[in-house]
Amino acid sequence: MLGMSTKGNVLKALEENKGATISGEELAGRLNVSRAAVWKAIGELRKEGYPIDAITNRGYCLSSFSDLLSSEGITPHIAPSFHGCSIHVFKTVESTNLTAKKMALEGAPAGSVIIAEEQTKGRGRMGRSFYSPPSRGIYMSFILKPRFDASKAVLITTAASVAVCRAIEKVTGVSCSIKWVNDIYADEKKVCGILTEAVTDFETGQIEHIVLGIGINFSSSSGEFPEELSEIAGSLFPDKPIIRAIPASEAIPASEAIPASEAIPASEAIPASEAIQAENDPFDPAPPSRNRLIAEVINQVMLLNEELESRSFIEEYRRRSMVLGKEIRILAPGQAHEPRDFTKGIKAYAVDVDPDGGLMVRYEDGSFGTLNTGEVSIRPIG
Ligand code: BTN
Repeated sequence: MLGMSTKGNVLKALEENKGATISGEELAGRLNVSRAAVWKAIGELRKEGYPIDAITNRGYCLSSFSDLLSSEGITPHIAPSFHGCSIHVFKTVESTNLTAKKMALEGAPAGSVIIAEEQTKGRGRMGRSFYSPPSRGIYMSFILKPRFDASKAVLITTAASVAVCRAIEKVTGVSCSIKWVNDIYADEKKVCGILTEAVTDFETGQIEHIVLGIGINFSSSSGEFPEELSEIAGSLFPDKPIIRAIPASEAIPASEAIPASEAIPASEAIPASEAIQAENDPFDPAPPSRNRLIAEVINQVMLLNEELESRSFIEEYRRRSMVLGKEIRILAPGQAHEPRDFTKGIKAYAVDVDPDGGLMVRYEDGSFGTLNTGEVSIRPIG
């Protein structure tokens, strides 16, 4: 029986050297297992759909187009200060926010991140659903512990939208803006939504944890979104091809395994330092992987989560805002801290974002008000 850890370790080594070849001998040596065990692990990974080439006399290469989600593929890109985050990757869940809430109640620590390839009941704000097809998106939820007044927990969402913009820009080069409250737009299309939920202790009624859910449309093509989203939604890489899973029947036959005698000497192996590709390399035909972007979202969210009290990110939030200085329409439902009736939607001018992330507006009659996150939604005009 192949131990899970050999397969995981082989995957980790391949992910760390993605696009480069490592000999079976080197893998076996590094992991302190037999070459047969390495070969078996490679076979299993290929069956799971990993595009791994076996190159005669040279070794194994995980294609730089590979884009399956795994903690082994994410961890190498996590900043050292956040190595304590525990990462859980699932194939299919109803909603990563729901799984995160359950796990929080069962004692999962703050800093846990729940990720899925697919959601069958992805949830959006205001009771809407979130389109979550397999392979084409990023669906992730953080379990966080609010370290101060839970009423300020809304700042977590504001900080997260800045964090996601930074991560997307760093990894993909695509520039992002924020539509109040926390929709992320690229090229005038919504590419990311954020849904923050509280986990309350049944007995005390206290907020114990915050679940921060982030959904990114990574590579859905524009025609793929459901009808009602087609005007609004877009993705980061609408033309990205999907790597087909290799059917079990095509798994490497034993005859292709590299005999030990033919293994390349370690001196000829490609040094790991050369295997690292520049981020967003224009000559690399493979777009950045979802694993890489997930890791950067984790880095940036965890970083800003330490700055909630100082609100250091509010200025950047303002700078990235799509609505400041513009006419907007405020939409129902409207029980904001505002006496007006929003049910038909009313026009206003977006003046500023206050230090708690609220949107300060001027109405047509000249009066001012502040809209609070989570309670109303808006639409820019023109
Ligand atoms: C919105 O745009 O209204 C918010 C969408 C939030 C979607 C994310 S995907 C990961 C997490 N799990 C969910 O069910 N929803 C959030």
